[in-house]
Amino acid sequence: MSISDFSGSALTSALTEPVTVSWRSPSNIALVKYWGKKGLQLPVNPSLSMTLSAANTETKLTVLPRKSEGDVSLDFWFEGAKNDAFGYRISRFLNSITPVFPWLRQVNLKIETSNTFPHSAGIASSASAFSALALCLCSMDADLFGILLSEDEFRNKASYVARLGSGSACRSVFPGFSVWGSSRALSGSTDQLAVPVPDVHAVFFTLRDTILMVNKKEKPVSSSEGHSRMTGHPFAAARIKQARKNTSELLDALKTGNKVAFIRIVENEAFTLHSLMMTSEEGFMLMEPETVRIISRIQELRKETGLDICFTLDAGPNVHLLYFEEQFEQVNKLIVEDLLKNNKQNMRMDDFYGKGPVKLG
Ligand code: DP6
Repeated sequence: MSISDFSGSALTSALTEPVTVSWRSPSNIALVKYWGKKGLQLPVNPSLSMTLSAANTETKLTVLPRKSEGDVSLDFWFEGAKNDAFGYRISRFLNSITPVFPWLRQVNLKIETSNTFPHSAGIASSASAFSALALCLCSMDADLFGILLSEDEFRNKASYVARLGSGSACRSVFPGFSVWGSSRALSGSTDQLAVPVPDVHAVFFTLRDTILMVNKKEKPVSSSEGHSRMTGHPFAAARIKQARKNTSELLDALKTGNKVAFIRIVENEAFTLHSLMMTSEEGFMLMEPETVRIISRIQELRKETGLDICFTLDAGPNVHLLYFEEQFEQVNKLIVEDLLKNNKQNMRMDDFYGKGPVKLG
């Protein structure tokens, strides 16, 4: 599969009035981590994530008439204000996908976007942002040309486009659990786009993710920079092998409802991600002392209480505490009375298994 499989049409007559579409798309939390890429935004290993529910980006895309054709012309608004830094990354992305959407060169574009969570709060905001935008672009394409795609074709195309913007974004297009990257354990999985995990035990529909904030500041090393440190990493081959094995075993755990295996794999992935950062040639550390304190305490509390709790980490210091709905009350008590008791931020974000993006207009 390549860009030519999705290449689209140019407008044959000029647009006469503005057309608008909008989508709300969620973030996702990786359980097996995408870390390292090759070629045109392709992953070096398969990853598996859960789409969330509360952390969303809402994006409105408007196309307006334009006199002459040229590079993408974008008016970009983030949370009610013009944002050139973000706008620049989006412009670059849009220019890179004109083979898929040739009409992008023939219109003026306005993008208005906002998040339901703080930027760089350690939540993969690029995942929700690029999936929302990709969905808008695919809907706009369908509206402008009267294209009728099946639901599956539409999601696949949106996932493919989202991936070109930000790798993890391709997984947010689907509800629940999805895999991005070719894995022998899941037929149909591919490096080009994400696919939904078909067989999930009902217990995992009740999974919750409470993000315990350690530091809301911009991270010192971005994910994109972090990925590049995997090139030539001394442990790269072993990591790829491990991610394949973890993907396969996690698929099995999700299918059979095996919480013990789930906890083991998820924590192994979080520790691996951060070890890879520390052991790259230009080593760096995103965990903070408070991160270490919280994750150690989660492991102790699991032993002490027997609750099915575990943690994962993104490329940042904040801790994602994963647990199941039926234990919400006990876990909530632990969060308030123990885990966050002496935490300076004392801030959390409660999220849970999500049903995927929603078209707003
Ligand atoms: C640690 O998708 O943000 O969250 O493709 O460069 O935009 P780019 O990177 P990004 O990387 C996410 C890395 C991660 C793990 C994951 O989500 O799988």
